[in-house]
Amino acid sequence: MTVPTGYRLIDLPRERKEEMVEVDQWAFAFATRPDDADALAECFPFDRGRAVEIADASRGAVGSLAAIHSSFGFQLRVPGGGVVPTAGLTWVGVHQGHRRRGLLRAMITDHFARARARGEALSTLYAAEPPIYQKFGYGLATQDVRMKIDRKPDLREVPGSDDLAVALDTASIDRHGPVLRAFQADFTRPGSTTVIPDPLLNNLFLDTESAREGGEPLRFATVLDGDRVVAWALFRRKGEWNEWDPRGVVNVPAWGAHSAAATRRLWSVLTDFDLMISTHAWLVALDDPLRHLLLHERGQKPDLRDNTWLRILDVKSTLEGRGYEADCDVTVEVTDAIIPENAGNWRVLISGGEATVTPAEGVKADLLIGIQELGAAYLGDTSIEALTRATLVTEHTPGAAHSLGRAMASSISPVCNIGF
Ligand SMILES: CC(C)(COP(=O)(O)OP(=O)(O)OC[C@H]1O[C@@H](n2cnc3c(N)ncnc32)[C@H](O)[C@@H]1OP(=O)(O)O)[C@@H](O)C(=O)NCCC(=O)NCCS
Repeated sequence: MTVPTGYRLIDLPRERKEEMVEVDQWAFAFATRPDDADALAECFPFDRGRAVEIADASRGAVGSLAAIHSSFGFQLRVPGGGVVPTAGLTWVGVHQGHRRRGLLRAMITDHFARARARGEALSTLYAAEPPIYQKFGYGLATQDVRMKIDRKPDLREVPGSDDLAVALDTASIDRHGPVLRAFQADFTRPGSTTVIPDPLLNNLFLDTESAREGGEPLRFATVLDGDRVVAWALFRRKGEWNEWDPRGVVNVPAWGAHSAAATRRLWSVLTDFDLMISTHAWLVALDDPLRHLLLHERGQKPDLRDNTWLRILDVKSTLEGRGYEADCDVTVEVTDAIIPENAGNWRVLISGGEATVTPAEGVKADLLIGIQELGAAYLGDTSIEALTRATLVTEHTPGAAHSLGRAMASSISPVCNIGF
């Protein structure tokens, strides 16, 4: 593994949490109150924490941290209903005094090698800036919509929705953490994780003064069908006034719903609090029932966002790990500048919803596809055909892009409903 001269890669243990937070602040340009730093550090997965340390005095104080990163051990829901072990890359930050010297590149190479050694076939992330990770083969696999929903919007009726019970509570990781985890374990939408590691749960429930930014304590909404939790949301209101009127805003950073009835019930409550004029909904899937139920979606200022970026670490097991919508038999030549085991010709034989992927050295390829494009298409949000039309995939055999594209389509739009 190549590490720039004067630096070394190390494990990042909990004992170095103050230094870790310091680098994070240098990377993301924010301040946290001293009392809040410990709670913030508990959101960092130290069991997988890695850092770049200064090894040569010409770079700075030897032994101090120049960069950090870690990952969450996820099980990513994929089309067809299965899960694939996935490393959710997180907390990537380089101290601004050490940027553009190759530290990110060294950390990514390290991340790929360690994830593969753990048997994780995918890596996903949220990108602070979209161009960064495309250099390393991450493709845009999921998109979401953010909306600023007006108070009490018109929602189309859903039978049974009004019968569902709603409980509003101050968020408690002890009481609501298990609720959220149980929900996610059953959540069928591709692109989400069915497992929420402890530091990610800490992050979701982070409720320090710094995190509140003047708003109320974090709240938790639960929608119940009898005893069964059918929807949840974390939310925070912030009261504001202009000279005459209340202008409060509700922020909903993470939520999930199992059905249209649960979605309608949840959002009819979240969009109708006294003194609030708008509810900011994050992480709405492209085909989410909420979008279809809003009578005037355009009025809620929908804004398309990149949701998660996905990197295939092991072509064979990822392609065999998901389900498919149609049969096909194509040979694809995959290019991958970082993971040589992925590169080369693969026969993808799909039958009865399942793929068998075998090396096909010497067989003429029907399609030429880079690892970034394969990652973009993996969850079914982006079609191989669209990528071919965009000249990002090359079709050697007419019809091959259509055939593989149809097989890889997902009847449910993928989204990750939890930020990390
Ligand atoms: C983005 C960041 C991690 C890059 O770290 P770095 O050590 O400067 O990156 P490297 O020197 O290893 O650069 C690796 C490659 O990525 C490119 N790159 C780095 N930052 C980039 C950016 N913001 N946009 C586009 N490309 C970028 C570099 O040009 C380089 O390309 P090359 O190998 O073709 O020359 C660092 O600047 C940082 O911490 N920024 C603030 C926090 C942040 O955005 N973190 C990412 C959270 S998702």
